[in-house]
Amino acid sequence: MSKENLAPVWARAFDIDVDHAEGIYIHDTQGQTYMDFTSGIGVTNTGHAHPRVVKAIQDQAAKMIHGQIGVVTGKAVLDLTDQLRQILPPQIDTYFFSNSGAEAIEASVKLAKQATGRTNVITFEGSFHGRTHMTMAMTMSKTSYRAGYQPLPSGVFGAPYAHCFHCPVAQRTMDVAERAALSASCPTDGGHCCGYALDQLRYLLKTQSAPQETAAIVVEPVLGEGGYVVPPNSFLQGLRTICDEYGIMLIFDEVQTGFGRTGKFFAMEHSGVMPDILVLAKGLASGMPLSAVAASRKVMAKWTPGSHGGTYGPNLVSAAAAAETIRVMRDEKLIENSAARGEQLMAGLRKLQAEFKQIGDVRGLGCMVATEFVDAHGHADKAITDRIVKTCADHKLLMLTCGSYQNVIRWIPPLVVTADQIDEALRIFAAALDAAA
Ligand SMILES: Cc1ncc(COP(=O)(O)O)c(C=O)c1O
Repeated sequence: MSKENLAPVWARAFDIDVDHAEGIYIHDTQGQTYMDFTSGIGVTNTGHAHPRVVKAIQDQAAKMIHGQIGVVTGKAVLDLTDQLRQILPPQIDTYFFSNSGAEAIEASVKLAKQATGRTNVITFEGSFHGRTHMTMAMTMSKTSYRAGYQPLPSGVFGAPYAHCFHCPVAQRTMDVAERAALSASCPTDGGHCCGYALDQLRYLLKTQSAPQETAAIVVEPVLGEGGYVVPPNSFLQGLRTICDEYGIMLIFDEVQTGFGRTGKFFAMEHSGVMPDILVLAKGLASGMPLSAVAASRKVMAKWTPGSHGGTYGPNLVSAAAAAETIRVMRDEKLIENSAARGEQLMAGLRKLQAEFKQIGDVRGLGCMVATEFVDAHGHADKAITDRIVKTCADHKLLMLTCGSYQNVIRWIPPLVVTADQIDEALRIFAAALDAAA
């Protein structure tokens, strides 16, 4: 068996040949065991190979693997819509299913275009929405995702995200520690936000994409790939106000923040802001490929029948996995665990931040936590970030980086993680900081 036949286009953070995995652990073919604080990039929230999810997959596979929704309606799909209705606000009661996050984001934009009769989309600097051509145009987290592919579809405009640690207004007057304190007071805000990002958005609506041409504003309620940024609540509330003012659809990309990751089922619950369209994927089906576009019946009714669809969405095995994932999350109180373990993790990281000046900022919600590394001048320090990730991996703790400058370590363990496992991860991280300092 050779890896030579795998396309080199995949960027690989580690070189691990996996044998099997369970809970938060990955076991490789050499007999080594790793703590997986990557969760397959925020996917395996119920832990690897959760027995109930595995059984649901096996049972459905034995009954029927695929029946196209235009031909048959599977019981697993209706079970899933019932489950979704129980965890989503009552207004968000109609669902479209596809396979990947990017596919669902594309679908949400198509829905917004038909629902409004408008052409343009606004997204945010630092955002990541996928790697298809449209979602690449909407992605503004790193140039590497676009290089060699441009020009991309037109009609996409970028506005600044409310990123307190990097806010240009704050940067003029505050040092790293002051900006970290500002960032720590998000998302509750407390009225500290200077409103820079919303001002720039209003300016964009005057200068580049007129409201009557703007179908949707698409936003991650916590920025993922762009650096795990928790915005002030006032930012999301301001987006809602602007969308209401101009009849623009507000789309929340909860591909990464959904399914308990932030200590609530959905990140939107932290701010109380309700989108017109919600996009889900990743944790939805515990690793089976499935994504969803969710909206009110009224909005969905504007989507012309037959104008969108696909062969697989929703695959019946994925749908069965998703329905059981929701039941497991509720029965095993994984949302509560995400919130509690996230607090424990942040408290541990903040202690380390006081000791190691290279940690410029610690931020997050639930088990979606970031440590951002800076040099003595307060600038992004990718080199130390890479060294720490490597040392942690050498000591069997797997973590990934993110952020436009790749100087952020993201902490995203499966939501079944225990207090002891968080302590163990913090111990390995502290030792790696010592070694790197
Ligand atoms: C917020 C967000 N949106 C969309 C996507 C794209 O999802 P997929 O990789 O399943 O296409 C991702 C993937 O990381 C993401 O984090």
